[in-house]
Amino acid sequence: MTRPQHIKFGLLLEPTGNAFNGWLDPATPRDGAIDLALIRELVELAEEALFGFAFVADSVSIEPGAKPYYLNRFEPLTLLGAVSTWTKRMGLVATMSAGFTEPFNVARQIASLDLLSGGRAGINVVTSAWGSTASNFGDAELLSHDERYLRAEEYVAVLRGLWDTYEDDAFVQDRVSRTYLDRSKQHLLNHTGAHFSVRGPLNIQRSPQGQPVVFQAGSSPTGRDFAARHAEAIFAKEPTFDGAKEYTGDLKRRIAEAGRDPDHVQVFMGAHVIVAPTRAEAEDKFAQIASYTDDAEALKWLSFFYNYHDFSGEDLDGPFPDLTAVGDNHMQGITRAWEDRARRENLTLREVARLAATPREDFFGTPEDVADALEHWFTHGAADGFLINNWVQPSGLRDFTRLVIPELRRRGLYPDEYRGATLREHLGLPYVPNRYAHAARSR
Ligand SMILES: Cc1cc2nc3c(=O)[nH]c(=O)nc-3n(C[C@H](O)[C@H](O)[C@H](O)COP(=O)(O)O)c2cc1C
Repeated sequence: MTRPQHIKFGLLLEPTGNAFNGWLDPATPRDGAIDLALIRELVELAEEALFGFAFVADSVSIEPGAKPYYLNRFEPLTLLGAVSTWTKRMGLVATMSAGFTEPFNVARQIASLDLLSGGRAGINVVTSAWGSTASNFGDAELLSHDERYLRAEEYVAVLRGLWDTYEDDAFVQDRVSRTYLDRSKQHLLNHTGAHFSVRGPLNIQRSPQGQPVVFQAGSSPTGRDFAARHAEAIFAKEPTFDGAKEYTGDLKRRIAEAGRDPDHVQVFMGAHVIVAPTRAEAEDKFAQIASYTDDAEALKWLSFFYNYHDFSGEDLDGPFPDLTAVGDNHMQGITRAWEDRARRENLTLREVARLAATPREDFFGTPEDVADALEHWFTHGAADGFLINNWVQPSGLRDFTRLVIPELRRRGLYPDEYRGATLREHLGLPYVPNRYAHAARSR
C-alpha cells in the first residue's frame, strides 16, 4: 500500500457546532441550524481550505430529549442542493437511511444532486438504530442489528444497479435521425430480493463520476464487513490513536479479504479539534465548550446512542450500568467502546456521560500540536483523512482553516489547490465503469 502525500478533510456540516448545546455559543446565531448565511459561510470556508467534501448527518426521527440541533434542521439533500450552488469543487455527502427509504427514490435524488453539482455527490448509507424511527414508518419494531445490515446490503446493490441504467454514451440526441436515446444502452435492473423489488430503469443519466461515492459509518463487526464489501469511504470515530490504528488496520484487512483494493476505500476519522494560538487559550476554549453541556444534558446525549434509554433511575456516581444488550441492538461499535473503557478505568455513569458529550482528544492545543496529531495519525495509518468536527461554529472552522491548514502546508502535508473536479477525484477513487458497457466490450 502506498501512502498518499496529502491529508484529506471533510467537514461535518452541523451549523451550530457539534457540542450538545452549540447554539449557546454567543458567536453563533441562536437559530444557526437553519441560518443560510451561516451555512454558506461554513461551506465557503471549507472550500477555500480545499476540503474534499461537506457531510450532512441525519436521522428520520427525534425524541423530545434530543440534542437541540436535531429538533430543527434541514433535510440533507435539500440543503446540499443549495450548497451545490454556492460551491464549485467540494464534494457533497448526504446521509440516507437504508432502513426507512426506498432505493429507487434515493438513487434518483443522489444522481440528481450529482449531476447538478458536476459529479460531486456522495451518500452515507446508515441503518438507523432507533426504535422511534420505526414508529414513523408504520413498523412497530426496528429490524434486528444483523437484519438491518442485510437490508442495507441489498439497498446498496439496488442503488448501484440503478446508477448503471444508462451507459455513458446512451443519450445520442441526434436530431437528424430523430434518435434521442440508444435503447441498447438503457438497462432494466429487474431486482427481486428479501427487502426490495425494483424493475428500473432510472430516469436520469449516468454520473459524471461513474457513480456517486458510497460512504458507510457502522463500526460493529457486521458494520465493518458491510463497509469492507460495499463502501468507498468510511466514517469512524475512535478517540485514541491506538484505537484508530487498530480500527483502520482491521478494516483494510477486511477490505483485502473481500477482494477489494484497500487504497480504494478511504477511512475518515472523526476529529474534534480545539486550536488556539497558545495552549492556555485552547484550555479556556475547552472549558467554555464543556460548560455548554451540563450533566443532565450529557446523559441525554449518551442515551441517544442507547436507543434513547432512560437513565433517570440510575445512580450518576455509581458504576456504569450494564447496557450491553441495548447497545448491541442499536449502536454496537461506539457503545461497546464506552463499556470497555468504563470497565477498564472503573468509570461512573457521570464520567462516561461527560466523556461522551465533550471528549478531550489529541487534536488539541496550538496549531503545531494539532498538526502533530494529524500528521502522526495520518502517517502511521490510523486514518486516510479526517472528518473535522468543530464544537462551535463558525469560530471552530475559522480557527482550523486559519491556524492548522497553513501549518500542514508548511510540512508538505496539504495541497495548494484542488487537483480534481469530482468527489471521487478528491478522494483518490477510480471512476466506476458501467457494468453493461464492460460486458459489451468483453464480448
Ligand atoms: C462519523 C459518523 C457519522 C455518522 N452519521 C450518522 C448519521 O448521519 N445518521 C445515522 O443514523 N447514523 C450515523 N452514524 C452511525 C452509524 O451509521 C451506525 O448506525 C452506528 O455506528 C451503529 O452501527 P454499528 O452498530 O455497526 O456500530 C454515524 C457514525 C459515525 C462514526
